[in-house]
Amino acid sequence: MAVMEILDYEHQLILQVLKVARARAGRMAQAGAAAEPGGPELAAFCHHFVSQCHHGKEFLLFQCLLQKQRAYVVAPIADFQAEHNRLAQLTESLAVAWRVAAAGDAGAGKLVAGYLAEFAALMQAHIRKEDRFYMVTQNLLAEADQSTLTAAFDQFDLATLGLGGHARYCQWVYQSTALHP
Ligand SMILES: [Fe+2]
Ligand SMILES: [Fe+2]
Repeated sequence: MAVMEILDYEHQLILQVLKVARARAGRMAQAGAAAEPGGPELAAFCHHFVSQCHHGKEFLLFQCLLQKQRAYVVAPIADFQAEHNRLAQLTESLAVAWRVAAAGDAGAGKLVAGYLAEFAALMQAHIRKEDRFYMVTQNLLAEADQSTLTAAFDQFDLATLGLGGHARYCQWVYQSTALHP
């Protein structure tokens, strides 16, 4: 798979998980439920798969694109990096609030619902912008860039998710959402 195809595939997985997250946030906000099941798995996906792995790979791609000396890539990449940071903050807050909610605090349940809704909205808008950006920048990547980056992505999967970790997360998404391999 080419670099942009790998990232696009991961975007599809993340968007499926966001649907589940949104539904959960809606139920928790309405019912004031302390915590729905599946919180630790969702928090782990956001932390390991999204922040560490997917955004880490995008950082490598961004470094490569910035070396192409094209002015039009600079501002979007700065925005994407800022959004990665905000999404990582939300992920951390979400994990903490979910632990408190799971201990029975209904107030924390509302907090979780708020963080989930904000994470889902920001992530969805972020992915839409990146998809458009990747369409217009993919031609900047030479064959050698494709080879270097795809090899680096494989190494990155291993370093952040462990042996077989990426495939296990894909499987988890297939099982917990309507997406099929
Ligand atoms: Fe991103
Ligand atoms: Fe992305």
